[in-house]
Order: sequence, then structure tokens, then C-alpha cells
Amino acid sequence: MLENSFSSMSKRMKSSIIRELLRDTGIVSLISFGGGAPDPETFDREVLAEISKDVILNEYKFALQYGPTEGDPILKNEYIKVLKERKGINGLKPENLLITTGSQQALDLIGRIMLDTDSYVIVGHPVYLGAISAFKSYGPKFIAVDIEDDGFNIDQMEKEIKKLDQNKELSKLRFVYAVPNFDNPSGVTLSLEKRKALVDLSRKYNFMIVEDDPYGELRYEGERLPDLYEIAEGHNVLLLNTLSKVMSPGLRIGLIVGDSKIVAKAALGKQGVDLCTPGLTQRIAARYLQKGTIFERIKESVKIYRSKKNKMLDAIEKYVKIDGARWTRPDGGLFIWLELPKNFDTMELFEKAKKIGVAYIPGTAFYVDDRKSSAMRLSFCLPSEDEIEEGIKRIGHLLEIDR
Ligand SMILES: Cc1ncc(COP(=O)(O)O)c(C=O)c1O
Repeated sequence: MLENSFSSMSKRMKSSIIRELLRDTGIVSLISFGGGAPDPETFDREVLAEISKDVILNEYKFALQYGPTEGDPILKNEYIKVLKERKGINGLKPENLLITTGSQQALDLIGRIMLDTDSYVIVGHPVYLGAISAFKSYGPKFIAVDIEDDGFNIDQMEKEIKKLDQNKELSKLRFVYAVPNFDNPSGVTLSLEKRKALVDLSRKYNFMIVEDDPYGELRYEGERLPDLYEIAEGHNVLLLNTLSKVMSPGLRIGLIVGDSKIVAKAALGKQGVDLCTPGLTQRIAARYLQKGTIFERIKESVKIYRSKKNKMLDAIEKYVKIDGARWTRPDGGLFIWLELPKNFDTMELFEKAKKIGVAYIPGTAFYVDDRKSSAMRLSFCLPSEDEIEEGIKRIGHLLEIDR
């Protein structure tokens, strides 16, 4: 009886392999390179505590009340200033912004308003699993193109688009999903040349780009590159941002920036989901942004993460002595992608790794087809530097035994 009660959408939902794998990894001695949770030491606790008290006592009529679905107007204004100062994006109005409950909700809302079961979405391979699970509920078909050292294989992407065109299905291509800065899981950054090429393709074939940028501010090396949104001057691009990795994921504050008509549709979609993102955390975030200290704070976080990243790269160099192994050296973000020779199956190795007290995410989690993978995603954000050294050493030993 119960089976009949489920919608076809619910049947498309799958539990996140990451959550499944990490379910019993709360063991104290386990070193986890699994999730992408920020280092809690980066949270500006004292300041956030003070602001929270003040907001509850003095702004309770907004903060403890239902609020507008579109988001706290003060937070939106602060974000508009940040986008102008940090990215040089001018001319944004509040109606170009929707505050979401984390950028994960933004992904779901985009699926909700843009995807049908006959739609196509182009993604990179590997791809952020959370985006796939958000889109998958709406039943689109995924076209995956390879991620190279400098991002999407653009030629392959154009070939796929041409195929759709030849089959008279181009109008069903709803968007390309991109994480141009320090991609999750690969850590790869889309080069300037390819950013321009992607924007050119979107103009030529008239499709949208969903640009997801949780990590842009966490750059440890090199010069900042312009967002796709900036290159396209906002045309055909939805830009997603979040405070999760730079302030606190517990606040659950994300953002969609784009054409006001699309933003209004997404707000309509959001009404039925949660009415509004909590006023309390929005106002805390707004007052925090207003203080103007966030970018000083981010500089400190960048120091912590840069050092952890270098520690992990050094440890991989030292302990992963497998011919043919290669790994990314990301300029920012939280992840390193380690690819082993094809005879390794990192899903099979996962259980053995857990037994010796170390966890990572097997590469198979990041492909839209359920292919086997000899890669693993290693996140360096949460463990201490000593744990990073020890954890990679354990992985190195395991690979030696298993080779
Ligand atoms: C690429 C990407 N997009 C979106 C999210 C979701 O972030 P949040 O919902 O916390 O804003 C994450 C989280 O790790 C991510 O890596």
C-alpha cells in the first residue's frame, strides 16, 4: 500500500552516497577527508554571538517573525554591495536576488522551475553530487562532458550541443551547470579562455548557465578570474553564492543572482517549500556583513586552508608511491582529487580504509552514470595538519598493500 503512495519524483530520489558512506564515521579515531565541512575555528564565534544577542533583543520583530520569501531586504542590500566591491557587478537591484536556505536550496529551486522530464542538463564529469541529486528529482537527462586540468572540455560540450541541435532538441537544453572556481570534487578552476568560450557557446546556442560559486573567496594561489556572470554581463547566467564556506554553514544562507523574472519564479517555487529562509540567521548575516570585517576574517581562513592544502599535497607526494597516480593541485577551495591507476576501485577500498581509521569519498559518487572509479575526493578542510599527515600515510600504506 505504502509503495503506491509515493510519487514518481520520490522514486527518483536517492540517498546521498556521501551521507551513507560517512554515516558511521563518527568514530573518534577516524580521520575523515570525507565531507566539505569548514574548519569550525574559522567561525567568528565571539562576534556572531554578540550580533545574535543584539538581533534577538532589538530586531525581534523581523528576526523572530515570518519574513518575505525573497529574503531580508537588509541582507540583500549588503550582498549587492559585496557583489559590487568584490566582483565589480554593478546595477543589481533587490529583485535580482533571492536569498535561499543554503545554495543547496537554490539548486533545487532551479530544478523546480527549469526542468521537465524531457529536459537536458550539461554537467562536468566528475560533478558535485548535491547538484545532481537536486536536479535528478525533476527527471532531466544529464549530458556529461569531461573535466580537464583547466575545466570543461569545451569542444566535447559543443559537439554534444550540436547533436541536440541536429535532433531538434536544443530547446530542451535548459542549462549547463558549472562550478568554475576550485570545483567540487576535482578542485579544478575553469580557465579564463574556457570561461569566455562557455559564455560564447551560451550566446550562440541560447542556453542558460548555472554558475555555482561557493569557493571563489577561498583562493590560496594565483589571481582571481572573472565570474561567468561578469563575462556574460548577467545575460543567460544565474549566479549562486553562499555564506556556508566563508561565514558558517549553520546559518544556511545562500543566494541566487540573476534576471528578475527568473528570480521571481524561483521565489514562487520557494513559497511552497519553506515560505522564507529564517529571518534570524538572515539578519545576523546582514549585520555581520555590515561590520565590514568579513574579508579580514576570510584572509585568516585562507591562511589556515592554504597551509592544510599544502600539508596534504606534501603528504600525498611523500606517501602515495603508486606509479601512474596523479592528483590536482587546487588554487583554492577544499578538495584534492586523487586518481589512481585503473586497477584500483576506490569504492572497494573504502571499507578497508575505514577499518584503518581513514575516510574519503570514492570517485564513483561524482558521476551521473554509476561507473566504477579509481579516483577519490580528499577534503583537507576539517582535519588538523597532524591528522592530514597521518591520514594520508594510512591511505598510502593501504594502496601499497592493495596494488
Ligand atoms: C559546489 C557546491 N554547491 C553547493 C553546495 C551547498 O552549499 P550550501 O547549501 O551549504 O550553501 C556545496 C556544498 O558543499 C557545494 O560544494
